[in-house]
Amino acid sequence: MAEHFVCKSDELPDGQVRIMTHGSLEIGVIRHGDAYYAYRNLCPHQGGPACEGIRLPQVEDRIVGDLFVGQCFDENDMHIVCPWHGYEFHLSTGEHVIDSRLKLRKFDVVAREGGVYVDI
Ligand code: FES
Repeated sequence: MAEHFVCKSDELPDGQVRIMTHGSLEIGVIRHGDAYYAYRNLCPHQGGPACEGIRLPQVEDRIVGDLFVGQCFDENDMHIVCPWHGYEFHLSTGEHVIDSRLKLRKFDVVAREGGVYVDI
């Protein structure tokens, strides 16, 4: 494993993704607030570019007593949505939201001294 420079921190604004390549490997580096995540840009479903999909918060049902009263977003549980068929993965872990056996391959990523680096 070795660290690879991705970009300057200010070149990756909050909510954006930077796709980098290392040989034949394509990795999506995603910034969410002050946190950075890096995943192989390859969906375990049929190989779509998962990291290039939109990111949405978890939708939760609101139940009061026995009554369904609506839905709300949980901004603390963001999902990556694969653009090909809509499989959703937890941004923090890369695991599919229903079947945790399906995972995006995760890489360590760090931001320091104005740069973003991925361990490959
Ligand atoms: S390839 Fe990603 S959902 Fe099908």
